[in-house]
This record gives sequence, C-alpha cells and structure tokens, in this order.
Amino acid sequence: MTDTVIQATNISKAYRLGVANDSFPTLRDALASGARRGLRWRPDLARRNGGDERFWALRDVSFEVRAGEVLAVIGPNGAGKSTILKILARIVEPTSGRVTIRGRLGALLEVGTGFHAELTGRENIYLNGAILGMRRAEIAAKLHEIVDFSGVEQFLDTPVKRYSSGMYLRLAFAVAAHVEPDILVVDEVLAVGDAAFQKKCIGKVGQIARTGRTVVFVSHQLSVVQKLCNRAILIGDGTIKADGPTAKVIETYLGMITDQAVEDLAIRAVRSGRGQVRLTAIEIEGDAGALTSGQRAWFRFRAAGDQSLVDCSFTIYDEFGVAVTSFDSAVHSDGELVGDSFVCEFQSFLLRPGRYRINAALTSREGVLEDHVEGAATFDVQSGVLGGRLVNAEPGYGSMTMPHHWTRGA
Ligand SMILES: Nc1ncnc2c1ncn2[C@@H]1O[C@H](COP(=O)(O)OP(=O)(O)O)[C@@H](O)[C@H]1O
Ligand SMILES: [Mg+2]
Repeated sequence: MTDTVIQATNISKAYRLGVANDSFPTLRDALASGARRGLRWRPDLARRNGGDERFWALRDVSFEVRAGEVLAVIGPNGAGKSTILKILARIVEPTSGRVTIRGRLGALLEVGTGFHAELTGRENIYLNGAILGMRRAEIAAKLHEIVDFSGVEQFLDTPVKRYSSGMYLRLAFAVAAHVEPDILVVDEVLAVGDAAFQKKCIGKVGQIARTGRTVVFVSHQLSVVQKLCNRAILIGDGTIKADGPTAKVIETYLGMITDQAVEDLAIRAVRSGRGQVRLTAIEIEGDAGALTSGQRAWFRFRAAGDQSLVDCSFTIYDEFGVAVTSFDSAVHSDGELVGDSFVCEFQSFLLRPGRYRINAALTSREGVLEDHVEGAATFDVQSGVLGGRLVNAEPGYGSMTMPHHWTRGA
C-alpha cells in the first residue's frame, strides 16, 4: 500500500530481567513523587518464564498505520505501549521483527529521550530539528513558535538538566509538535503536566491530526482518546488484543479491566513494584452493602508483608478512565487507627451513581514503590440522598456531587 507510513512486522522485544537498562527514570516516575518508582526485578515473571532471564515485553506485534490516521495505543500499565513507541522512534531496537517508517517522525516520549542534559534549551531545539532532518534556517524560523508554546523563554540558554520536570516536558512537547513531523508519536507523559498545559497539548495534537498528519497517541484518558483518535490498538501482555474503531476497542478494554478486577488480587500477574509488600485483597462496602451516594463507605486494603512499613494510596477512575480523585494514607491526621489493614473511611461518599474502578499502590516509607495494581477493584455507586436531595442517577452528568442547597431570590 502506498499510503502506509508505519509498517510493523512481527516485532518482539525482550528485556533482561532484573536489569534496569534505562539510565534515567521515566517522566512519570520522576513526577509521581515516588508513587511509580520501583525496581524492574519481577520474580513473578522469572518464575512464570520458567527461569528464563529475559522478559518479553512485546511478542509478535504487527500493525500498519496509514497516512492521516490518528491511532491510539491503549492498555494497562506494563502492557508494552511505551516499548512500541520507542521502537517506532528508533530509541529501542526490537529483538526481532521489523519496522518501516515513511516520513519524518517526531516523538514525545519519556524524559531523557531526545534531549541532551548538558545542552541548553536552544541547543536542544536545534539538535532535535537536525535529527529530524530540518535545516538550520527552517528551525530558526520555528524557534519563536516553539519557545512561545513552551513558555520557557527565560531559560532558553540554560542547560536542560537545570529545568524542572514541568519545563522539560513543555519544551519537549513544543519541539515534537512544531518541527513539522509527518508522524507525531506522543506517549502518556502528557498526563503529568499541569491541566492547562495538558489541554493546550491535546489541542495541538488535534490540530496536527486535522492537517492530515499521522499521529500515534498513548493515553490513559479514554475520553481524550475517544475524542482524538479514529482507531485504537489495545495492547495487553505484550500482544495486540484488539485493533479497530476507537469506541469498540475502548469497550473491549473496559471489559478486560472489569474481568481482571474480579480476579484474585493476590495472584494478579500484571502489577509493578518491588513486591516486598503486596496487596492481596480490597473490600469495598457501604452501610447498605453496596455504595450509595451520600452514605458512609469503607475501602479496606489487605496486604501480605509488613504493612507498618508502607503507605497505601488509591485513585478512583470513572468509566471513561478519567481520574476523579485519589487518597493517600501517607497524609496524616489525628486519631488514625493502627491495625492489620488499611481502611479508608468516608462519612459521606460523594460520587454520583455509576461504575468506577481504582488503581491501588503500596509505597514503602523510603519511597520505593512496592506494589501498584491497575484496575485493582471495580465498584458501583447507587443513587442516594444527600442533604435531603436525591442524587440523580442518570448517566452523563459527571462523577461528583456535594452537599448544597438552593434558594430563590425575589
Ligand atoms: N528498560 C527496561 N528493562 C526491563 N524491563 C523493561 C524496560 N522497559 C520496560 N520494561 C518492562 O516491559 C514491560 C512493558 O513496559 P512498557 O512498554 O513501558 O509498558 P507500558 O508503556 O504499556 O506501561 C513492563 O513489564 C516493563 O516493566
Ligand atoms: Mg508507558
């Protein structure tokens, strides 16, 4: 096919187990204040692989992308999404298989990829442009726009190693988006920027997509994926589980997460972290058994290993994968109980009726991520009464409610 711009044929990628061959932490790692930090050693996988020292992050993945397609790559943590993007950007070599790219490819991947720490912002802009085959004059003509978009003007002649993660991300995205790539590849690093910049970036990606250029986009924000992309590939355990129209693939993904959630947490293989303390069960209950808007609710997290050494945190996501809120036991208050499990209690649960899921994590006191499980549990909230008012159960009105009252003026 002449309009095929990316052709991936049977790509597989093996990493050596226990070897952190990334010399830099990922941006997500750097920004999630330790929540995602952890060693790559996966004793569970070593055992599962029958002692093989290699871990197959991708197995026999084939797909093609046509010019102008806006493709989402979705799937749980550790599925292999970033590995695919790094292979497309030629930052990582596949162990076997082949990738053919037609055209100039601009990529926003994890921190460290593409930027040179010792060089200044300005030098990095030129370097990246040059790598993409742009002439110096072409880059010079774009410089103002890039700097303007990134908002790092004041620090343009400062080495990027002195940048905050936020500044770094801004500049990296600005460069990737403005060097006029034929193909733009964006990993979910965007999700860590501040909300306003995130919105601006997503707008920019949409704008690039509308000019007929090809985009490959990884995001946990399924609502953004749905809006932006006309096709999606679902990756799970290093293989393609689904490939097709975005809405259909998202549906398959959500089904998969829900299936996983009923699987026993203690034996769940897809998780990350050092593993010295692990989540074994999560119990979610309200006064009437199920959770009800406006009533009391408890989330109980049980773990194997010494719980006194870790903190527990969890994030609640709505059915579109949008984070609604999160809670962290490391944030202390008076009168917290000591016991053999973590219990997070809500006097009045303020989510609207609907289906939600949680990601849960245990982080050791010294900041090492011990266990992180995506889609660790799924729960439904029923319609209830809050402050004497019934909480509307119709879908499409958001996730949150709060006590309130109405008055009418004269
Ligand atoms: N440099 C590396 N060394 C060892 N294992 C790695 C490395 N990079 C990724 N992995 C492992 O490969 C799997 C896929 O990772 P990744 O592509 O980052 O997944 P995703 O982006 O979907 O979360 C994970 O289990 C991850 O731990
Ligand atoms: Mg990733």
